[in-house]
Amino acid sequence: MGFREDFLWGVATSAYQIEGAQNKLNKGLSIWDVYVRENNKIYDGHTGDIACNHIQTYKEDVKMMKDMGIKSYRFSIDWSRVIPDGYGNVNEEGMAFYDSLINELVKAQIEPCITLYHWELPYEIYKKGGWLNEDIVQWFGRYAGIIAERFSDRVKFFFTINEPQCFIGLGYLNGVHAPGLKVNLRDTFEMAHNVMKAHGRAVQMIREKSKRDVLVGYAPTCGMTYPYSNSKEDIEATRKVMFSIPEADNWTWNISWWSDPVILGKYPEEGLMKYEQYLPKITEEDMKLISEPIDIYGQNIYNGRCIRMGEDGRPVDVKRKDGYARTANNWPVTPECLYWGPKFLYERYKKPIYITENGMSAHDVISKDSHVHDDARIEFTRKYLSELKKASEDGVDIRGYFHWSLMDNFEWDKGYSERFGLVYVDYETQQRVLKDSAYWYKDVIKNNGNNL
Ligand code: NOJ
Repeated sequence: MGFREDFLWGVATSAYQIEGAQNKLNKGLSIWDVYVRENNKIYDGHTGDIACNHIQTYKEDVKMMKDMGIKSYRFSIDWSRVIPDGYGNVNEEGMAFYDSLINELVKAQIEPCITLYHWELPYEIYKKGGWLNEDIVQWFGRYAGIIAERFSDRVKFFFTINEPQCFIGLGYLNGVHAPGLKVNLRDTFEMAHNVMKAHGRAVQMIREKSKRDVLVGYAPTCGMTYPYSNSKEDIEATRKVMFSIPEADNWTWNISWWSDPVILGKYPEEGLMKYEQYLPKITEEDMKLISEPIDIYGQNIYNGRCIRMGEDGRPVDVKRKDGYARTANNWPVTPECLYWGPKFLYERYKKPIYITENGMSAHDVISKDSHVHDDARIEFTRKYLSELKKASEDGVDIRGYFHWSLMDNFEWDKGYSERFGLVYVDYETQQRVLKDSAYWYKDVIKNNGNNL
């Protein structure tokens, strides 16, 4: 009992958040390179220009992962680094970096997992309309095929798109992530549909160009839900909220609009009705492309809402207790979501699940004894993983867990003010310090979670 013998214990990062060297190695501009230069968009004017300088330290970083006992590393490829304008020539210097990183991982016996889109939209594509231009479906597919062709001899795991909810919602609806726009609802639905099609095209191209059988997945996010009690009514109410579609100012923040089409081949009825007037033309052929079969289901999970059935037979949110546990960026600590979330997802989608991200922000400091005593992160992860283990024991097919993040990094609009790493990064010296949680995680991995 517990986790599977071959459970994939991992950590995750993304390109812009750690690489640095944004104007080196012939990289093209991405929307983040441009956005961080606009006034007052990012905390204290921070940028990802240097970040964790990973482009130069990757060999040491891989060694550090090896010392931490990490079995798998989920990282992303920056589209604008390997195809500077997104659709034209391949930049061999950029490719060489990822090639060498993958070799280091393989040597260290760390399973490399590639995410193809963790938000670095090439700026040249953005100028051509970005996600509003349907050509992006083919451009993204071509890029995915190039990566698969080049790396599938050593890489088995490919995740197409990270958190579409976030980059469409925060980038184009609320305007707090690149490119910082607030467009009309119609456009957001059209972009979302193109994102879905680009995902489908990428799946096709990965299959076509890979040199061996690979595992293709997807990595959406969303707040989960968990029931107030184990009563049938509360559980039913919770399941209902989990897959419901929110109001317009927040519409992207849901699971079913983004995952039903991919796995079930149709958009959820509730959304089709609610947003009918804003939807683009959706054809049968589109749905076939979008639901091109994937092998594994990734889900980023950070927290959830507690739900119960109301007196009137409608689900209600249960108010959080006064003084409830929160992380440094004020996200609630709700370990139950790592039991109920995967359970509901598995019931609905019936695919092997990987938790592609989970973790917390803390304002960590280096103590007088030169260590980082991040007890809160240990407690957080212990509680969350215990719930995940319970789900696995209850028959949910859970195959892996990637802690967000390997090391502190550029937290988008929050710059370097939020620390999510198992490893502390001193941004002035680029020194890495393993936090107590890194040693703790190493022990968990060694015991396959049996000591949680
Ligand atoms: C989700 C995103 O994928 C990642 O880029 C971000 O840093 C973490 N969550 C924490 O906010």
